[in-house]
Amino acid sequence: MSITSNAFKRCRHLAVGCALALIGATPSAAEATEDVARGAELAGQHCTRCHVVGDLNPTGGIESTPSFSGIKYLADWERRFGEFYILPPHPALVRIADVTADRDVSQPAFVHEIHLTLEDVDAILAFVRTLPTPDR
Ligand code: HEC
Repeated sequence: MSITSNAFKRCRHLAVGCALALIGATPSAAEATEDVARGAELAGQHCTRCHVVGDLNPTGGIESTPSFSGIKYLADWERRFGEFYILPPHPALVRIADVTADRDVSQPAFVHEIHLTLEDVDAILAFVRTLPTPDR
């Protein structure tokens, strides 16, 4: 086998690897739409209890809790939505599968807990991206 053909093989191998990496990293349009729909459903189910979330509950939420659109005024809102479960008051009620510790059973639950996965957090973020971003 010549050096050239080996190099070609390696090159082709890399190209396939790159193509696969790209396919893996770029969700299809259908997957992205699914994520947004799932995120809207999850936010409607869990976050509207306290937050006003776009058109889902314009007159709902709790007055002392910022609306999702209000949070989008902050320059780093994407980071905040990506890690909201470690930002107060959420650690008291949000459990993320394989990430946050379960509540100690000897401690009574004072509020209804929210159980999510990291994929759910991504879906909620995908949905929040679709909410109008206020002008600064
Ligand atoms: C029990 C009420 C409650 C629920 C349920 C709740 N939140 Fe919150 N959230 C709050 C309050 C109160 C604040 C404001 C905290 C502050 O001012 O420091 C907040 C703030 C936030 C912030 C901004 C965090 C920061 O520190 O700037 C994000 C992002 C957020 N919530 C996302 C969510 C998402 C996503 C859900 C649903 C999965 C959710 N919240 C459910 C009460 C709640």
